Amino acid sequence: MEIILVTGGMGFIGSNFIRYIVENDKDFRIINVDKLTYAGNPENLKDMMKGDHLQFYKVDICDYNAISTIIKKEKVEYIVNFAAESHVDRSIENPDIFIQTNVIGTQTLLNAAKKSEIKKFLQISTDEVYGSLGFEDPPFTETSNLAPNSPYSASKAAADLLVRSYYKTFNLPINITRCSNNYGPYQFPEKLIPLMINNALNDKELPVYGKGINIRDWIHVYDHSSAILKVLLEGKIGEIYNIGGNSESTNIDLVKRLLKILKKPENLIKFVKDRPGHDLRYAIDFNKIRNELNWEPKVNLEQGLEETINWYKNNQEWMNNVIDKEYLTYYEKHYKNR
Ligand code: NAD
Ligand code: TYD
Repeated sequence: MEIILVTGGMGFIGSNFIRYIVENDKDFRIINVDKLTYAGNPENLKDMMKGDHLQFYKVDICDYNAISTIIKKEKVEYIVNFAAESHVDRSIENPDIFIQTNVIGTQTLLNAAKKSEIKKFLQISTDEVYGSLGFEDPPFTETSNLAPNSPYSASKAAADLLVRSYYKTFNLPINITRCSNNYGPYQFPEKLIPLMINNALNDKELPVYGKGINIRDWIHVYDHSSAILKVLLEGKIGEIYNIGGNSESTNIDLVKRLLKILKKPENLIKFVKDRPGHDLRYAIDFNKIRNELNWEPKVNLEQGLEETINWYKNNQEWMNNVIDKEYLTYYEKHYKNR
């Protein structure tokens, strides 16, 4: 049995990753460490908690003593670090917590990992560390320059460089994955797709930043999870792997697609003030993971969006529970001046 410490496992991608490995391979024991911020929701794994294959600790990744104790006590072999502040808009409004969790938190984990005999430390990073592309530029490769434009992406780039340095200096066995925009079940409704689905289901305005011409590459969280497990078990030590969904779309086209599937009118769309420093385009060249690890995304965007919409339609109680007072205050303040 392999013993994996997952950080941030109560969040969107972390919980989907845990679900993916529990459903696909029973021979893992998963230790889930999460601080339970506004984005961490124990409901996301409620149906998974039976049996001893999954253990949860409410712990901050910045707490060195707690993390070291868990690694020792649970005889952890692999660490997958999802824990992060993950929303660009929040990083513009309050960068400090992004530096604390994403940079100091990652370094704390690295220090704890260095003191133990782990097989691998996998850092879950993002394509946003590469900055922004023009419409005609070729997609980012693993050797593209790091040129982050938001406090969020800058904190993730800083963490990537720390992870790299612990490999070069201390021989810590590491990988870094850099993935494009995820969508799927259990995503907090501050991010584009669940926000738009939820607003449309409730006949509320859909706030599209600027002219809606910014492009993102979309990947289903199921495909991201399968790529992470591949890299964890088969990735060459020290390497970075880009993960992409092969599905570029402008925001406006994506929002119109959602409205069409939902059978809601386009006049719900409201163009609002643009995000400061808004990256124009992300696109990912994932030939490395395709050729070296034989991985490809399987979910096509149309089918993935339909399934995702159905999931949110069938889980409105989940949505109502995560939209708490803190979130409503944030949302109101955030959109007031747009
Ligand atoms: P999320 O915001 O949904 O979840 C983050 C989780 O981390 C939450 O459960 C939260 O409680 C936990 N957390 C936050 N601070 C913590 C701390 N100090 N200690 C312990 N736990 C803490 O984020 P997500 O969308 O699931 O993203 C997960 C990871 O994947 C992040 O590192 C993010 O940078 C990366 N990523 C996300 C995307 C995307 O599209 N969402 C794309 C590429 C990479
Ligand atoms: P988001 O889901 O926040 O992810 P990221 O900024 O990390 O790519 O946003 C995706 C795109 O959608 C981005 O170009 C900003 C845009 N967007 C809107 O137009 N309206 C919104 O309300 C949100 C949250 C995002």
